[in-house]
Amino acid sequence: MAQMIQLPSDGDSSGRDLGEEELALLKEAIASGHLTSTRGTMVPRLEEEFAKVFGVDRAIALASGSAAVHTAVAAVDPEPGDEVITTPITDMGAITAILLQGAIPIFADVDPVSLNVTAETIRPRITKNTKAIIVTHLFGNPCDMDPILALAKEHGIPVIEDAAQAFMATYKGKLCGTIGDIGCFSFQQSKHMTSGEGGIVVSNNPDYARRMFLFVNKAWGYGDSNPDHYFLAPNYRMTELQGAVLVPQLAKLPGVVERRNRTATRLSNAIASLSQIEAPVVTAESKHVYWRYPIRIAAQGDDLTRLAGAIRERGVQCAPRYISKPAFECQVIRDRVSFGKSKWPWEGPHMAGRDPIVYDPKTFPGAYDGLAHVIVIPWNEFFTDDLVDSIAEVIAEAERNVLGTGV
Ligand SMILES: Cc1ncc(COP(=O)(O)O)c(C=O)c1O
Repeated sequence: MAQMIQLPSDGDSSGRDLGEEELALLKEAIASGHLTSTRGTMVPRLEEEFAKVFGVDRAIALASGSAAVHTAVAAVDPEPGDEVITTPITDMGAITAILLQGAIPIFADVDPVSLNVTAETIRPRITKNTKAIIVTHLFGNPCDMDPILALAKEHGIPVIEDAAQAFMATYKGKLCGTIGDIGCFSFQQSKHMTSGEGGIVVSNNPDYARRMFLFVNKAWGYGDSNPDHYFLAPNYRMTELQGAVLVPQLAKLPGVVERRNRTATRLSNAIASLSQIEAPVVTAESKHVYWRYPIRIAAQGDDLTRLAGAIRERGVQCAPRYISKPAFECQVIRDRVSFGKSKWPWEGPHMAGRDPIVYDPKTFPGAYDGLAHVIVIPWNEFFTDDLVDSIAEVIAEAERNVLGTGV
């Protein structure tokens, strides 16, 4: 039987850099007896240092990446039924965040190779009801931002960047998450830095920053002379325990990103000669940070499943198609299962005189093509050159055994 490779995993300590520094700050937080961030030190420190590393005016830590996107959408304050353009290939938490704020997700198609939205795919989805555009830098590969920003400016629409998978990825030298109006990050278990769950939003816009600060705090006006609960808002606060675990990891982040980038580039070079498997395409103006390493396969269907099986058999975990279906095919969106039986906000008085919202599969050729041809390999900062070379061998062997030499 072929030899199995043992790879570090972000699911346990083999692939997570959590140790003495995190424990020391956790101990400090616990010794203080004060575990809420409202008057803590760890979360404010994380926010200050994150803002500094990312070169933004404000960073506001919160409970999850989903909470980050919800908070960003709340900052632009949509009316019920306003539309937020987003991608159908992302985590569902980034889409339900739109619905939870009473706005309707409108999906732009994606480029089949990068699986990212583009200005060309966003443009036809803009209507007079569009309130915001969310772009997701999928797998850590930056979207082509300049044309998207130009399009958004043309229509006066703010751009929210979902950089949950793209810590320190850059586009034309600018950090993803800081290019649009608001940036969102996730500290969920598998991300470049983690506290199990958690997230952060960043912005240079003082109005958005103020509204986001209020939103995560039940809209209570902390520090105001006459505070009140100003508007409808949840408690999305991060705890001091999460802050303590994240502060040391922020210092490690540049190293994590460099190691992931270097080893992933090594794999891309090693598999460049394969005829039916394509490494991720990264433009000269972008830096990919490889939350995941997606390979594009010429074949699809059973061949894709068999290829992924052959790769997995050798110990390299991977997911054919990344997600089984685009978000609009998932029950919550397909059947509009939202608040009781109301189907709100897809339906309701605000929709009077408007066309019903239809997610027509025919208008997503890029998403279907992209998912049909992709296999996603988890990446990790602890992958050594030797391990990467072994992964390259496994991929090449799987191509030979499953796909043969021609398509
Ligand atoms: C692109 C993207 N956006 C949002 C989220 C939601 O983040 P969380 O799981 O922290 O709620 C995730 C996944 O974790 C994600 O990958």
